[in-house]
Amino acid sequence: MIKPHGSETLNPLYVEDDAARAALLSEAESLPSLLLNSAAAANAVMMAGGYFNPLTGYMNKADALSVAKDLKTTDGLFWPVPVMNLTQTTDVQTGKLALRDPNVDGNPILAVMDVAAVETVSDDELKTMAEQIFGTLDGDHPGVSTFLSLGNTLLSGSIQVLNFSYFAADFPATFRTAVEIRNEIAERGWNKVVAFQTRNPMHRAHEELCRMAQERLGADGIVIHMLLGKLKKGDIPADVRDNCIRTMVDQYFPPNTVMITGYGFDMLYAGPREAVLHAVFRQNMGANYLIVGRDHAGVGDYYGAFDAQTIFQDKVPAGALDIEIFEADHTAYSKKLDKVVMMREAPDHAKEDFVLLSGTKVREMLGKGMAPPPEFSRPEVAKVLMDYYQSTQ
Ligand code: ADX
Repeated sequence: MIKPHGSETLNPLYVEDDAARAALLSEAESLPSLLLNSAAAANAVMMAGGYFNPLTGYMNKADALSVAKDLKTTDGLFWPVPVMNLTQTTDVQTGKLALRDPNVDGNPILAVMDVAAVETVSDDELKTMAEQIFGTLDGDHPGVSTFLSLGNTLLSGSIQVLNFSYFAADFPATFRTAVEIRNEIAERGWNKVVAFQTRNPMHRAHEELCRMAQERLGADGIVIHMLLGKLKKGDIPADVRDNCIRTMVDQYFPPNTVMITGYGFDMLYAGPREAVLHAVFRQNMGANYLIVGRDHAGVGDYYGAFDAQTIFQDKVPAGALDIEIFEADHTAYSKKLDKVVMMREAPDHAKEDFVLLSGTKVREMLGKGMAPPPEFSRPEVAKVLMDYYQSTQ
């Protein structure tokens, strides 16, 4: 199987041993504690599951600045997005600190941190990082506004994680750690694995991208890996997306060719940089390829349609990652050919020859109880979405 990023074996930061975990939790109850923001909590959950291998905790200021600017830590580890615990609290000391979960009632302890440094990151430094990560400082960009509101105190140091926040309880059938996905790939005997990142219900284009990648790469299986964390307002909740995806896979893929899984992380909307982070953690979960299509992890018009592909040539040094990218062109249903195609592979087509619908248009239709055309969305998926939209009105 493909090696993890940056080490020979995966080093998840979840304390696996029941007795050790119980002892750490009881020790943590008497430690000073900090209520995390959701971004820092999501970072902890990703480190817990092995997705952010080989990190052993939150980055210090020098590493965060270096990663934002040059995609590598001060030690030279390739890494695309700073993994930080920023807080608005200034009253924190070095030493052991219990980290409390902002996303679970009662704010239980999520992890224990050994705080090695408490540093101040100025507003200017935060803005510099935001611009490098997101390519913009526009306050209307959902990732930028979140990033700039996290705080100016940066706590760095190693962590030991006690649970997987709300993800394990809320999505028992879907939430998986990188360790679990590696194990399942091995159990299934898959040698060549394609990962599909998604934060949407899967429409025909998404479905066909998976099929094309599997066929063209000769892959044994596809791991659909959906984001289960926080999204911007108006995006579709994870349980509804999960239902859409399961309905589609059941109906339209042969048995034992697809694993339906999810990970606990909040969407950054960082486009190209997030695509590279996606590649890092798909390598950690054992995938050989990641599908990157049009406007991957994008929002609004902040990124060029294929910037998330070109970054792999422009900013990822040769040999930095073992996982490879399956580059997909804009994909849509061709009325002439009666199937979903990549547009570059139908050069004789005009725009009108494709079934193209904007996200806004689709939402509008669903809200009115109208199914998008079957060329765009499988009827079974459209039904799940219509039921959801109707229930919110
Ligand atoms: S994302 O934020 O997770 O990238 P989404 O779930 O919509 O959003 O997309 C998942 C993957 O499918 C991404 O790689 C994206 O680029 C790709 N994709 C989605 N729709 C299309 C399309 N019509 N043509 C080409 N690629 C697409």
